[in-house]
Amino acid sequence: MSLPTSLNTLELWDETLLTGIPTVDQQHRDIARLGEKMLKETGLPLTSERFGDYFAEFWQLVTDHFETEEKIMRSLGLPSDQLEVHTREHSALLERLIQANIHSTTLSEWKHVSDIAHELITIIVDHIIHFDLNLKNAVTR
Ligand SMILES: [Fe+2]
Ligand SMILES: [Fe+2]
Repeated sequence: MSLPTSLNTLELWDETLLTGIPTVDQQHRDIARLGEKMLKETGLPLTSERFGDYFAEFWQLVTDHFETEEKIMRSLGLPSDQLEVHTREHSALLERLIQANIHSTTLSEWKHVSDIAHELITIIVDHIIHFDLNLKNAVTR
């Protein structure tokens, strides 16, 4: 599965991205909604205070979500190596979000909130496809 070239999070949020775990799916949807709002900010500079607010909100949703998802994974009784790899991936992903945020203020071609929204959403959706969707099997088996 690959990301569509014109990134629209609402279109992305079809049932192929559902894990079947209601809390996880709701949190994914909330992150997508915020991403969609940010994608529309084509004229808001990354140097603006509002971008700081957006990023802080995005960060909060993602960190809360990872915490919840990891708790759920532990309760599902997944093999410990699988749990460890997934949890490690969450940490790596947070690092990538930090890097994207830092680069947003230093790279001149990244000028607006919509530009970084693309990057942030791609990171999250890619993770859902390659990691979170495996939870579907854990729930249905
Ligand atoms: Fe995950
Ligand atoms: Fe997730």
